[in-house]
Amino acid sequence: MSKTISPPSTPSKTSKPSHLPFKPILLLLVLPFSLLTFSLCPLPFSHRHLTYLLRPLWDSPPQPFIQLPHYFSQNLSLSQLCGLHGWTVLPSPRLIYDAILFSNELDLLEIRLSEMSPYVHQFLILESNATFTGHPKPLYFSSNISRFASHKIIYEILPIMYSPYYQKGDPFRLEAIHRMALNSLLHRSGIKPGDIVIMADTDEIPSPETLQLLKWCNGIPPVMHLELKHYMYSFEFPVDYSNWRATAHVYQEHTRYRHSRQTDYLFSDAGWHCSFCFRTIEDFLFKMTAYSHADRVRKKSFLDPKRIQKIICEGGDLFNMLPEEYSFRELFKKIGPIPKSGSAINLPGHLIRNAERFKFLLPGGCLREE
Ligand SMILES: *[C@@H]1O[C@H](CO)[C@@H](O)[C@H](O)[C@H]1NC(C)=O
Ligand SMILES: *[C@@H]1O[C@H](CO)[C@@H](O)[C@H](O)[C@H]1NC(C)=O
Ligand SMILES: *[C@@H]1O[C@H](CO)[C@@H](O)[C@H](O)[C@H]1NC(C)=O
Repeated sequence: MSKTISPPSTPSKTSKPSHLPFKPILLLLVLPFSLLTFSLCPLPFSHRHLTYLLRPLWDSPPQPFIQLPHYFSQNLSLSQLCGLHGWTVLPSPRLIYDAILFSNELDLLEIRLSEMSPYVHQFLILESNATFTGHPKPLYFSSNISRFASHKIIYEILPIMYSPYYQKGDPFRLEAIHRMALNSLLHRSGIKPGDIVIMADTDEIPSPETLQLLKWCNGIPPVMHLELKHYMYSFEFPVDYSNWRATAHVYQEHTRYRHSRQTDYLFSDAGWHCSFCFRTIEDFLFKMTAYSHADRVRKKSFLDPKRIQKIICEGGDLFNMLPEEYSFRELFKKIGPIPKSGSAINLPGHLIRNAERFKFLLPGGCLREE
């Protein structure tokens, strides 16, 4: 496992030539079906819908990951636990740095800090006074700092100068500026080669089981993606295991802060990703207009609080979008609301210990504060 990992190869359209001859045939089969779908379902027709619906025809899935199995049971010794993964135990534990871009996910940040704190040496939190779409943003962390007092936190503000260019321009550009600033904070943090750095968004939370292995096991890959169980609105709506963007790195001088594909290794079932898991409808409105896909708010009515509340309780889609999938099988499986789950097993401990306060994240708690 200690061999150097070659850089990720870009998904290649030529990697599956055998599929090509079938695509025109599939198109013929699918077009009538998609037209039927549009006439039956209440979604307003748009070019984008058609593009997404036909995605399996025009896009190929990313190069598959090499999935590393993940074992856990209570009462195993560290040498048993590391050994199950083909690793050995280090003589002394590694230091873990958790580097995150913070926007307004106050509740998930509280859960993250509490869950990870026993394993993490330092939390590097970067917050900016502008959203990815260039609009002024309150400094939520600063204003709520009393909630997070911990000597492990290093907090930095990224001032973004007001510019109409940012508001009209590509939100991914401002996102890149945020990530560069976090990279700079990471390099100034005192992190040393051989330490671990987690690169994730606030709502992508590695589990304690994962952190324990990162801390103690010798032989882990220098970079691995973390496969996180994806939830929408709350832990009542599990979507799938599709989330892979978070990574754990054994830090080297050349390590850079990124949130994209970096290696083929994917560590299985490594934690939770809770999207749009907000306490108030106001937080939803903020997020919908602030993030990199804000162009998905195609109509004013999308921002109607009553509509948002209804969608949260149904497990529907806030932007009236079809699922983005690479195969028709996955796409059709996911059309319509996310099925509800009654399970609150294997969730972050801090969430369950404070179930009353975090009711909105648990089964049956879909109603939000205005
Ligand atoms: C795990 O260890 C604890 C304390 O050593 C013990 O009380 C408990 O019975 C053990 N549980 C299992 C499932 O072996
Ligand atoms: C962010 O803060 C800086 C420095 O205080 C200020 O000049 C800038 O206008 C602020 N940006 C926004 C979008 O409010
Ligand atoms: C957190 O910060 C926001 C933005 O400054 C503020 O509106 C809100 O009242 C604060 N929340 C709490 C619980 O203090």
